[in-house]
Amino acid sequence: MNILGINWGEHDSAACLLQDGRLVAAAEEERFNRIKHAPFAYPLRAAQYCLQAGGLTPQDVDTVAYSFSPSVGFGRGFLYALRHFPHANLVASAELVRRAWYIATPGYTRYMLKVPTRTRFMAVPHHLAHAASAFFASPFEEAAILVVDGVGEWPVTSLYHGQGVHLERLATVNFPHSLGFFYSAFTEYLGFDPFDGEYKVMGMASYGEARFNSQLRQIVRLPEDSPAHRLDLRYFNFPNHYGSSTWYSPYLVEAFGPPAPAAPMPPQVYLDIAASVQQRLEQAILHLGEYLRRRTHSRYLCLAGGVALNSVANGKLTQGGTFDRIFVQPAANDSGSALGAALYVQHSLLGDAQRQPFQHVYLGPEFPASEIEAALHSNLIPFETLADPVETAADLLAQGQIVGWFQGRMEFGPRALGNRSILADPRRADMKDRLNAAVKFREPFRPFAPSVPEEHSDTYFENVGGSPFMILVTQVRPGMAEVIPAVTHVDNTARLHTVSRATNPLYWELLQRFGEKTGVPVLLNTSFNVRGEPIVCTPKEAIACFYNSGLDALVIERFLLRKII
Ligand SMILES: [Fe+2]
Repeated sequence: MNILGINWGEHDSAACLLQDGRLVAAAEEERFNRIKHAPFAYPLRAAQYCLQAGGLTPQDVDTVAYSFSPSVGFGRGFLYALRHFPHANLVASAELVRRAWYIATPGYTRYMLKVPTRTRFMAVPHHLAHAASAFFASPFEEAAILVVDGVGEWPVTSLYHGQGVHLERLATVNFPHSLGFFYSAFTEYLGFDPFDGEYKVMGMASYGEARFNSQLRQIVRLPEDSPAHRLDLRYFNFPNHYGSSTWYSPYLVEAFGPPAPAAPMPPQVYLDIAASVQQRLEQAILHLGEYLRRRTHSRYLCLAGGVALNSVANGKLTQGGTFDRIFVQPAANDSGSALGAALYVQHSLLGDAQRQPFQHVYLGPEFPASEIEAALHSNLIPFETLADPVETAADLLAQGQIVGWFQGRMEFGPRALGNRSILADPRRADMKDRLNAAVKFREPFRPFAPSVPEEHSDTYFENVGGSPFMILVTQVRPGMAEVIPAVTHVDNTARLHTVSRATNPLYWELLQRFGEKTGVPVLLNTSFNVRGEPIVCTPKEAIACFYNSGLDALVIERFLLRKII
């Protein structure tokens, strides 16, 4: 049984392949078309890669599982456009045409993927796909499930109870009362892209004081003993955004003042607003978690949806004690809904009770050393062949060099977890500024994350029961902030990545070797890309990124490229 999962329609287009229930490949389209989040792009190259990785042709695909319900998606667009037609007919018409593509998805998919007529097309409602992506990839046979994102077809928040192969929907909050769009609107108000700046708000929040919380309580209302959160819609334009250029409304500007000016470090008032927004989101997530615990009596929670990428909120949920264990789908954003659609078909529709808990995210393309060597030769690029890449990389890192590290299969999901990473020494207090000046060009308030072998995690970080997907923020242990200043945020927290020998032996070995040389088995790990670009996929992209940035060295499989001889 070959199930090809796809996500297409809004952003984070992606594909994955389940072969007899085993996840053999998954990748985002942005890594192939090189457009961040691949908005509206059909995941054609991602799907072709998945088929190739599984040794299949389109003829072999039994089912295409799609992560939206076409009719409901179209219905929303239709009603939306109808409502606004007299005011902004051009924009509304464009929206209507775009939404019409939902209806065309089955036919368009057959045309694009060239699958035979016997291939079934199964549409899975978007939040159900998110829920399945978390539950069926988790180690739990039974769990509460929370899905929070911008918007699915209509739902913005969904609560489920997963048991065996069954997903029971307990509650749904519909558009426009979206926690995701609430955060996006404030992200835009604070001076960033509403679709891509949420991490910046999360980083800013640590520098502020949540002194606007009473106002935020009015903007996001959390009714007692109910998951039906409500937004005060006077503050937002997004429910009626035709003809309006911002997601926030003039009412919000009246309440909080003019939007944040473009500045490396915004004035304190905006940091305080960011802190208040972040705190209110955390309160909403905890509120939903507590409701789920009471309703399901489950000790386990699974999380998915774009808001589940808020690693600070996840950390608080983990440490809050409401649940014994929490599993956050590593690709919690819409790319993971491709996986969820396929898993839903495999388990809930076909009844396959054999679960395959997610062990790692190394599901993307890999490239043989011979191909890399040929590319280096043909482009006349000077390189060295290494007997022990781990030893060389550990030496360079210990010397303070910024190293591109390209090994094995590309990661699925938004995090670089040691196969497409830029690495540096976290002990050097100036490393964050150096990295920003040379490669990443990030805002100064955004932290960099640490990788640590899981065996050493407790020495440096408060225990969160492991964080293999870099999706939880935890406290740096007292006294350790001085040891690893480049990965310790201003509030003594870190977005932790624990590395196991079983799932990434090479990266684990590098961390150990760096520890042997320096006494600190921790590395600064940031994604292998420059600002505004997706993470590199191919060796050529890695080499181009190396020469287009201030990276000191590139260890690409067993080859070394360097600028400092
Ligand atoms: Fe979503």
